[in-house]
Amino acid sequence: MNKVILITGISSGFGKETAKLLAARGHTVYGTLRKEAEKIDKVNVLQLDLTNYDSIKKAVKSVLVKEGRIDVLINNAGAHTGGPVETAPDEHIRLQMETNFLGMVRLTKEVLPIMREQGQGRIINFSSIGGLMGLPFQGFYSASKFAIEGFSEALRMEIARFKIKVVVINPGDFHTSNSANRRNFLAPSTPGDPWHDHFRKSLSIIEHDESHGWDPSVLAKKIARIVETRYPKQRYIIASFEQKLAVLLKYILPAKWFMKILASHYGLILNPPMKA
Ligand SMILES: NC(=O)c1ccc[n+]([C@@H]2O[C@H](COP(=O)([O-])OP(=O)(O)OC[C@H]3O[C@@H](n4cnc5c(N)ncnc54)[C@H](OP(=O)(O)O)[C@@H]3O)[C@@H](O)[C@H]2O)c1
Repeated sequence: MNKVILITGISSGFGKETAKLLAARGHTVYGTLRKEAEKIDKVNVLQLDLTNYDSIKKAVKSVLVKEGRIDVLINNAGAHTGGPVETAPDEHIRLQMETNFLGMVRLTKEVLPIMREQGQGRIINFSSIGGLMGLPFQGFYSASKFAIEGFSEALRMEIARFKIKVVVINPGDFHTSNSANRRNFLAPSTPGDPWHDHFRKSLSIIEHDESHGWDPSVLAKKIARIVETRYPKQRYIIASFEQKLAVLLKYILPAKWFMKILASHYGLILNPPMKA
C-alpha cells in the first residue's frame, strides 16, 4: 500500500538513496533539504533545518495540508563531529546534540499527534554502531546516538497503544558524505599536543573504514523493506560481520577486555609505557 513518508536529509548518503527508492516503489515521499540540491525524481522537497524549530513546524504542516496524513517518519539526517573531548568547541557539541538529538525529538513531537489521531504510524530513527558503544574521538557523536537509543526505547512503550511503531537502525560503515562532513567539524589538535598522534591515527582508521564501507543503496533497500513489512523488528543492525560481532562482544565480554579490543582497532595505547 502507498504510504506517505517524511524523510530528513536527502541531499546525500542514506537519505538520498532511500528517498529515491521509496518514491520509485510508489510511495508518496517528502524529503527535506537545507540547501538546493539535485532533484530526485518523484520526491517532494521541503526546506528543513533540524536546528530551526520553525522550519520543522512548517515542513510537517505542509505535508499534512497536502496529504492529510503521515504514515512513516524517517529520522535520517545527522551531523558528524570528531576530535578529542577535551578540545571540542562548545559550538560543535551543541551542533551535534541539536541536530542528531534535539532536532530529531522536535520533529518527532510534531509528527506524533498526527500519527496518534490517525491511529497508526511508523517512526524510523537512525542510530549507529556508535549508539551501542562509545567510539574514541567521536565522543559527542556517540553521545547523540546513545541519546536516540534511550529516547526510542522509552517512546516505543509510550505510543505502542496508538499502533505507532518505533524502529531503530544501527548502520555500520557505509560510504556516504559523512567523512567529508565530519572534516568540517573536527576539534582542534596540533602536532605535539597530547591528543594529536592518537587522534590522527584513529581518524585515519575511521575514514578508511567508512570509505571501504558498503554502498548506501544497500541500506536503502533494507529501509524500504522495513517501511513495507507489516511487523517490523524494533532494531536492525545493518553492518559487516565484524561489526555485528563487536556489538555481541560488548555485551558478553568483561568491559576491560572489550575496551582493549576496540582500542586496538583504533590504534590507541591504553597504558603508558613503563619508565626505565
Ligand atoms: N555513513 C555511515 O557510515 C553511518 C553509520 C552509522 C550511522 N549513520 C547515520 O546515518 C544518517 C545519515 O548519514 P549519512 O551517512 O547518509 O551522512 P551524509 O551523507 O552526511 O548525510 C547527512 C544528511 O543530514 C543532513 N543534515 C545535516 N545537518 C542537518 C540539519 N541541521 N538539518 C537538516 N538536515 C541536516 C545533511 O544535509 P546537508 O547536505 O544540508 O548537510 C545530509 O542530507 C545519520 O544519522 C548518520 O549519523 C551513518
